[in-house]
Amino acid sequence: MRYDIRLNSDERDDAAVLSRADFAELDRADPLAGWRDRFALPDGVVYLDGNSLGALPKATAATIDDLVRRQWGEDLITSWTRHGWVDLPRRVGAKIARLVGAGAGEVLVADSISVNLVKLVAAALQLRPGRTVVLSERTNFPTDLYVVQGLCDLLGDRLELRLVEREGLAAALDERTAVLLLSHVDYRSGEVHDMAGLTAAAHAAGALALWDLAHSAGAMPLALARDGVDLAVGCGYKYLSGGPGAPAFLFVAERWQEAARQPLSGWFGHRDPFAFQPLYHPAAGIGRFQAGTPPVLSLKALEVGVDLLCEVDPAALQAKSRQLGDRFIRLVEERCARLGLVLASPREPARRGAQVAFRHAEGYAVMQALIARGVIGDFRAPDLIRFGFAPLYVRFVDLWDAVEILRQVLGERTWDRPEFKQRASVT
Ligand SMILES: Cc1ncc(COP(=O)(O)O)c(C=O)c1O
Repeated sequence: MRYDIRLNSDERDDAAVLSRADFAELDRADPLAGWRDRFALPDGVVYLDGNSLGALPKATAATIDDLVRRQWGEDLITSWTRHGWVDLPRRVGAKIARLVGAGAGEVLVADSISVNLVKLVAAALQLRPGRTVVLSERTNFPTDLYVVQGLCDLLGDRLELRLVEREGLAAALDERTAVLLLSHVDYRSGEVHDMAGLTAAAHAAGALALWDLAHSAGAMPLALARDGVDLAVGCGYKYLSGGPGAPAFLFVAERWQEAARQPLSGWFGHRDPFAFQPLYHPAAGIGRFQAGTPPVLSLKALEVGVDLLCEVDPAALQAKSRQLGDRFIRLVEERCARLGLVLASPREPARRGAQVAFRHAEGYAVMQALIARGVIGDFRAPDLIRFGFAPLYVRFVDLWDAVEILRQVLGERTWDRPEFKQRASVT
């Protein structure tokens, strides 16, 4: 697919403080600018959705080609050991551990966030006997809440999901709380929770803290060990660029691993899967959080993205995404004033992840009209248009181009066409 990005704004716009040339200058001064070349991004597209599906690293295709043709095609089943397939969940986990401030044996790649939450919420309940409440935020990502609801159906009065507003979280912790379950960065607004503070508050109430890192891993520094986090889950297909449907990861602090049990006790979590014993005995350490056969193709693709990120200082990623977010907010407010947009993200960079959202009454149609012009973000119900600033490949000049097209789409009401209002199944 080719997009049509028509810009007529190369000269300075009187209403704007800066010009496109100033944004190009910011790219020339950007220490991370060279990383974009490691990704296969199509010409003529401004990609601001790396927080939903990370861009394709150029190295991925050759890695998967080799895996398919040589390892699978020629070495067949011997590849499980010859090419280390069986070690991939722990090996890639140990690399992700570096990105999230954890020990090498504390992270495992497996399944999806949803499935990993079943394991970790159940483990938390069993580690906190006598406590029955999972405390979370009303606006947490739905799958986190749905998974707990499923466990409530299973466990009856042994489990209760308690939902409160963001401001009321610390006060709602009490002697019934088994685990505080939160997303570090809010998927809609991008607002960041104080991980260290809320983890300490959970501990003071005798509860554990389980963090969903979907929108923070690979975009900012994380320090799970330093912050005392007990349990965490995170996403492989967003900032880690693992590809569509990439497996997720889970973190279990070493201090809990031997005592923790999880209910998806499949053979790959057994201490000796190839002994084929009828009785389940969990593997030592993080390995017990595996369930079934690992998805080798997806794991290898994820490893390429993770390797790339391991070369970069997470603090530099955060610094750039904050700058991108700031510039974007200022440009939108300068150039799209009175065109129906309301900022839905915190203005202070320290309170924001690597994404920015605006409200618009016709947000869905606006985003479809933007995508038709080659500016790809996404829409989150009921009215948010969301833009992600994956710092390894988003350029400053992309911001200028995106806002120029946004201004045209809103000013000319291009969004007001029937084809932009047809809801697709993925938004
Ligand atoms: C905060 C958060 N948690 C979980 C998920 C998805 O979880 P899963 O890997 O089960 O699809 C997302 C997806 O966007 C998310 O934003």
